[in-house]
Amino acid sequence: MQIRIHRDAQDALAVSALVLPVFADANFDGATQRWDALLDGALRELIASEEITGKIGDVALLHHKDGKVRRILAVGLGERTAFAPMELAKYAGSAVRYLGKRGVKQIAFALPLEAHRHTRDAASFIIEGALVGTMDTTTYRSEQEKPIVLEEIVLLSSANGDRFDERALQSGAERGRVLGEAVNFARTLALTPANDMTPTLLAKQAEEAAKRYGLAYDVLDEERMAQLGMGALLGVSRGSDEPARLIVLRYDGDASSSERIAFVGKGITFDSGGISIKPAENMHEMKYDMSGGAGVIAALSAVAQLKPKLNVLGLVPSSENLPGSRAVKPGDIVRAMNGKTIEVINTDAEGRLILADALCYARELGATRIVDCATLTGACVVALGHAASAAFSNDDTFLQRFLPTANATGERYWHMPLYDDYKKAVKSEIADLRNSTGRPGGSCTAAAFLSNFVGEAPWIHLDIAGTAYMDDPGPGMVKGPTGTPVRALVTFAEHLAGAAVHPNGPVTEHDALATAS
Ligand code: BES
Ligand code: MN
Ligand code: ZN
Repeated sequence: MQIRIHRDAQDALAVSALVLPVFADANFDGATQRWDALLDGALRELIASEEITGKIGDVALLHHKDGKVRRILAVGLGERTAFAPMELAKYAGSAVRYLGKRGVKQIAFALPLEAHRHTRDAASFIIEGALVGTMDTTTYRSEQEKPIVLEEIVLLSSANGDRFDERALQSGAERGRVLGEAVNFARTLALTPANDMTPTLLAKQAEEAAKRYGLAYDVLDEERMAQLGMGALLGVSRGSDEPARLIVLRYDGDASSSERIAFVGKGITFDSGGISIKPAENMHEMKYDMSGGAGVIAALSAVAQLKPKLNVLGLVPSSENLPGSRAVKPGDIVRAMNGKTIEVINTDAEGRLILADALCYARELGATRIVDCATLTGACVVALGHAASAAFSNDDTFLQRFLPTANATGERYWHMPLYDDYKKAVKSEIADLRNSTGRPGGSCTAAAFLSNFVGEAPWIHLDIAGTAYMDDPGPGMVKGPTGTPVRALVTFAEHLAGAAVHPNGPVTEHDALATAS
């Protein structure tokens, strides 16, 4: 897909379709106003006839028979006062899904004047959203849906004389391409059914990504796990014939620093619950139980291309959770890499077991800060629904850096508590810890359990059980995997490497309003 910046919004523009923003207040300005004048008020007419209301993701198409641009698509951007750059991902995604399904391969996007303070981000969100909009979830069908093919995206740099900074558009667009591709990579890994996405195959995907993008990598087999004393991860793996893998990716972006952040993602390629088996209803969705791991592999792939100045590790403990004859049984006691013993009360609380060893190993590999992400608990979905992921931390300062950054990406994270009560609840009578405590505060006790394996490192735990995949993910996205937490992880890495953050998104040196020359 080509990306082009085009200065003149009108006559010289030759594309298959032009997308214009319409806010819910129905006040036109910028490119929308200019094109409405050129089209003799036809856009106004769309509002008057209630063809379009300006609600986010709302679309209405006009044909422009005599123009070089044959199709004009008005797309809602929601309330003007609530505008944030992240809305542009939905704007672009909605346009791409509408036009792409109709065979349009070349799309120009106008930006709202509101985006002037965030030019680089605006471009990034548009390209990210456009790519996310192309996602095809029908590849296993004999008769697939017509795939969306984007050959060219054009970003218009001018709107009523206030020109957008073209360098900022270009660099934002490149960044958006990397992020959008990474989001789709994670979604594709998650979507792939468990018979085609075993721990071995997930590791192969990670290895290929590492080679493609120049990451250092290592894949631990069960023998090496045994040597390292990873009894918790191996315990989960025992119930399946498919061997476990521990995937390690490494990006060295700052040789002058001994700081290293580790992203650790749960990679259960299928979670049947094990001996504490799950009910059949919706069990098929447990192929998504490696979404956190997919997110880490994709985030490292993006980081390798964006090259922020910091050191990053990616770890993905990967296993199936099945009730084979050698499976771990309720009541069994396993020993994690740091020597802590764990009474397995419920074999369905397997995520925290595999993460325990991966968190220990992250420390062993020199991680000074850790963010883990996991589809960890049904209780998290009860608490927050599909509206947000839960964020727990042992370090408020670290979390206060993460939250505004992550929440400006369009993903949502909500601070949850790690009280001592929860830490007490996960203690066992006969071992150091137990892996299940019953229903109350299930997401919090899971986080408290994990806190035993990070030592003193500042650490954030993200429970993405309600957000990693959705039936109704909102405008511009198909149902299924969402790519959460790729946007947050990548943007946080950039932030830790020094990118400034504005409440509505990172602002860079290119973001000043460019003056018309
Ligand atoms: N993978 C599940 C959590 C999950 C549930 C994710 C629903 C997405 C949607 C996890 O391994 C699990 O089974 N957790 C148990 C823990 C319990 C046994 C303490 C749960 O949430 O019921
Ligand atoms: Mn489980
Ligand atoms: Zn699970």
